[in-house]
Amino acid sequence: MKVTVVGAGAVGASCAEYIAIKNFASEVVLVDIKEGFAEGKAMDLMQTASLNGFDTKITGVTGDYSKTAGSDICVITSGIPRKPGMTREELIGINAGIVKSVSSSLIEQSPNTIIIVVSNPMDTMTYLVHKTTGLPKNRIIGMGGALDSARFKYRLAEALGAPISDVDGMVIGGHSDKGMVPLTRLATRNSVPVTEFISEERLNEVKEATKVGGATLTGLLGTSAWYAPGAAVSGLVQAIACDQKKIFPCSTLLDGEYGLSDLCIGVPVVLGRNGIESIVDITLNDAEKEHMQASAEGVRATNGLLEL
Ligand code: 2OP
Repeated sequence: MKVTVVGAGAVGASCAEYIAIKNFASEVVLVDIKEGFAEGKAMDLMQTASLNGFDTKITGVTGDYSKTAGSDICVITSGIPRKPGMTREELIGINAGIVKSVSSSLIEQSPNTIIIVVSNPMDTMTYLVHKTTGLPKNRIIGMGGALDSARFKYRLAEALGAPISDVDGMVIGGHSDKGMVPLTRLATRNSVPVTEFISEERLNEVKEATKVGGATLTGLLGTSAWYAPGAAVSGLVQAIACDQKKIFPCSTLLDGEYGLSDLCIGVPVVLGRNGIESIVDITLNDAEKEHMQASAEGVRATNGLLEL
């Protein structure tokens, strides 16, 4: 299993690190445009191999896509991250050009690959990869919901005073501060609805803290987060590589599911060796449907800024 990660910045390097630590891939290629940067990150990571006990071979290259040839999965993290006070949508101008050229270079070398998009604004960048590459929709996956759901579980555990392993929950919708739809109604603590433990008011606080999860970290760090994004990507890569058939909320091209078409937005999907093996079309209540429609409007407005 060969995995390419484009962008050796904090998010890309974290992806490579978590993929390697989980020890299921034979090879990870890190690509960056900054001379020597990916090579340096790869060497540093390889020097953790004996300490962390992995056999995945990590190599780094400066812009040489021929080294990515034959990749089973490619992850695109390239582009600029947001600064405090910025929305993900404001990154579209620079990132669209980068994502377009990176996805074309990847497909040239690995026509059968599955692409995972991390660059922001993620739902729109996922849509752009569809328009650029024309790959079948099961092979283009946007990473946002897995990260937002991890942040939701963190906030739920905090509110419940419970260990995170006891908590389950999912965030669907767009990967944006306004667009996320945390499904509090379906969240559980060890199979018991969380509504049995905490008030509606406290749950609303959890919901709001989840939606601004990325912005809160950007305010604290001065740039966007990397550990949880990297770990979330590694979970998707592993589910595909190991044909796990696990459900994750991911941004995918919809064709009528959730009453939406011709946009990429976060919904639960089953991930296995073919990428997105199916879309899970769950029944939402009226408030959730309304929230999902508003989220889709936001994504469509950002998509409208693309020069296709
Ligand atoms: C985040 O929410 C990078 O969009 C990513 O942290």
